[in-house]
Amino acid sequence: MFPNNFYWGASSSAFQIEGAWNEDGKGLTVADYNSFKKSNKQADTKVASDFYHRYKEDIQLMKELGLKMYRFSISWARIFPEGDGKVNEKGIDFYNDVIDELIANNIEPFITLYHFDLPFSLVEKYNGWTSYKTTEAFVNYAETCYKAFGDRVKKWQINNEQNLMVRVNERMNIYDAQGEEAERLRVIMDHQMFLAYAKSSKLCKQLVEGGSVGPSISATVTYPATNKPEDVMSAIWNNRLKTDYCIDTHVNGAYPNYYLEYLKETNRMPNISEEDVVSLSESVVDFITVNYYRTLTSRHLPVDANHFKGEKIEGFNIVDYNMYGYWEILKNENLKESEYGAQIDPSGLRIALNDYWNKYKKPLIITENGLGTVDNLVDDKVHDGYRIDYIKSHLLAIEDAIRDGVDVFGYNVWSIIDILSSHQGFKKRYGLVYIDRTDFDEKDLRRIPKDSYYWYQDVIKSNGQNL
Ligand code: BG6
Repeated sequence: MFPNNFYWGASSSAFQIEGAWNEDGKGLTVADYNSFKKSNKQADTKVASDFYHRYKEDIQLMKELGLKMYRFSISWARIFPEGDGKVNEKGIDFYNDVIDELIANNIEPFITLYHFDLPFSLVEKYNGWTSYKTTEAFVNYAETCYKAFGDRVKKWQINNEQNLMVRVNERMNIYDAQGEEAERLRVIMDHQMFLAYAKSSKLCKQLVEGGSVGPSISATVTYPATNKPEDVMSAIWNNRLKTDYCIDTHVNGAYPNYYLEYLKETNRMPNISEEDVVSLSESVVDFITVNYYRTLTSRHLPVDANHFKGEKIEGFNIVDYNMYGYWEILKNENLKESEYGAQIDPSGLRIALNDYWNKYKKPLIITENGLGTVDNLVDDKVHDGYRIDYIKSHLLAIEDAIRDGVDVFGYNVWSIIDILSSHQGFKKRYGLVYIDRTDFDEKDLRRIPKDSYYWYQDVIKSNGQNL
């Protein structure tokens, strides 16, 4: 049984949905920069789903769907085209219009301040998150948003998946550094993002009356490949170093010991000043937001004469890397894979929710969950039964978690309409609504609700009873 006030929602992010990449004063972002590099292979951020020009139509679709919540991100470079400095009032106007339109249609806005799209100017000026100046710029940007929108927006997510973002070189603008140099940079950037989280979460409580704030994490649930103790430990380490260290730091306001020991052992410890320690301790977590797509399986990967402890090598993919002395990721033969290689595992969501609730005792909300796949438009319809199956099985797992006693207060499908996949263009679709465009033909960008849209509408109407 879902609680009566359960937030039935859907999600998106600015660079994946808005388009209008340089309109009305918006500056270039790291997400734009990286997507333009791939423009000859797939769609880029220039038009995306054209939400910037069609948000009214899209919000009408959300209303008809019955959404209670819409989780979306603000493009930092629309508000501060240079990352810091002068505010772009047209950016503020755009998000004011979106927020007002949502509220007029009884949909609660849930804002992410930063979803993979650092203003590129901060890379040029300060080398991005390597510098405290970027942290200051972020806190100033957060303050501007709280003051501009906080009278109407009460739920805030500081950034999207810090724990995953930091693993991807292009999102962190690590272009030339390799090996240990890249690893040390990554830890420094992560540290600045932790400071940015701590400072801006504290500010949220001061500036937004009745506001609540939380981190977003990309959930890692790892199964040991065998019952050998070293394989069990490898799964624990994979969870710790890819996800848990991040929530632990936000919730406890300090790096956990296992993480500090790992940083020491691998010679990757960043500078942590006494002032930083105080700032981290002031971090506020009212809830934890969970993005969930898949689980992993691991076994121990021993060091040998040619490899040192902590040495990273690509595993399944860039984010699911292997690390000598810790773990190696394997395929789980018990699970089916999506067309794009994600191991589909609704039970893993129940496990993650139980784990986070028992460890942190903070209310949980799913801010992303969905199936990225190719859809076919036939006679103006998309029969995406496979997406219905995916969402349904994950909702059943959430219901189980609620029955286990976990406090889950909402679920947001990724994504409300088809969006630009974060690294695989427009062919890989997630939406409940089809956008009539392809990677290379913008066509008419018409909105066509898929079968999953009508199914979800019924689920919302029955508060989850018609699953
Ligand atoms: C999440 C991101 O990690 O994964 C989204 O927050 C992204 O931005 C989603 O779209 C799915 O990944 P992808 O690469 O298939 O778009």
